[in-house]
Amino acid sequence: MPTELILDCDTGVDDALAILYAAGQGARVHACTVTHGNVPVEVGTRNTLTVLDLAGLSTVPVHAGASRPMAQPLQTSEHVHGRDGLGDAGVSTSSRQPAGDLAAVEIVRLARERPGKLTLVAVGPLTNIGLALLLEPDLPALVRGVVIMGGAVGVPGNASQLGEANVWHDPEAAQLVVDSRWDVLFVGLETTMQAPIPPEALRRIEASTDPRARFTWAIMQHYMDLYEPTLGLRSCIPHDALAVALALDPDLATYRCIEAYVETGPGRTRGTLVGDLRPFAPPPAEPSTRGVIRIVDRMDFNTFFARLLESLGA
Ligand code: RIB
Ligand code: CA
Repeated sequence: MPTELILDCDTGVDDALAILYAAGQGARVHACTVTHGNVPVEVGTRNTLTVLDLAGLSTVPVHAGASRPMAQPLQTSEHVHGRDGLGDAGVSTSSRQPAGDLAAVEIVRLARERPGKLTLVAVGPLTNIGLALLLEPDLPALVRGVVIMGGAVGVPGNASQLGEANVWHDPEAAQLVVDSRWDVLFVGLETTMQAPIPPEALRRIEASTDPRARFTWAIMQHYMDLYEPTLGLRSCIPHDALAVALALDPDLATYRCIEAYVETGPGRTRGTLVGDLRPFAPPPAEPSTRGVIRIVDRMDFNTFFARLLESLGA
């Protein structure tokens, strides 16, 4: 049976890869919901419609959501993803219109409609997820699972010294997610930064004539410009596609449960996902305990990249 998803995103370049991966691996995407983040929500909404059309998912509704974080001004990341959020590659955009209901309302509606069936995957700031939790406190009991691309546990951040962008863009929303009674998996930079797209995979994407590969190659150039100095090679990190891969096939990785919280105070550590990695920390209670999250221990990146290439027709 295909995994049934709600995908919340801030479509940017790696969000686009995540959507193409989900489609290519046969996920049943009930809806995409969009948040501020890489780009303003209107831009991310248009980009999500565009990538869904390319992926052959033009019947999947897209619901615009939060236009700013809960408790801080809007900040976006065009320097990473381009002014248009798709690498300023000049790709043609969808003329399809977003659906009417707002993101958080649609997340709650779908969860109530299909209790225990849907995996909630969030690959942008968590404002929509936090709002959905405020609207429906029973949301954790209504979803089958929750997978977040977010956090940087025990490694440097990317939005600040210790803050990873999705958590850093809305710490209050992220804390609502951490402090809920669900078995939430955070796929953080401690995992994703280990997985730059390998040169052979890049060569196959560049050489492919599949429209999905050609689109990907075009939108990735700006993203690779940013990552090249950091990685020491011309490549980039498919953060969001890694999270979707684990939502679709949890057996691609092993995991550990830790106690965690999000710094929501003022100051330079605001927006940090703080995980208790002490080797002698008492094993946390059940994964679905409030303040307990799962993180990845080890992941099978080779299988992930094989499936990513398959999803791009490369
Ligand atoms: O830190 C990486 C995350 O921030 C990814 O989801 C990327 O798309 C940006 O939203
Ligand atoms: Ca994202």
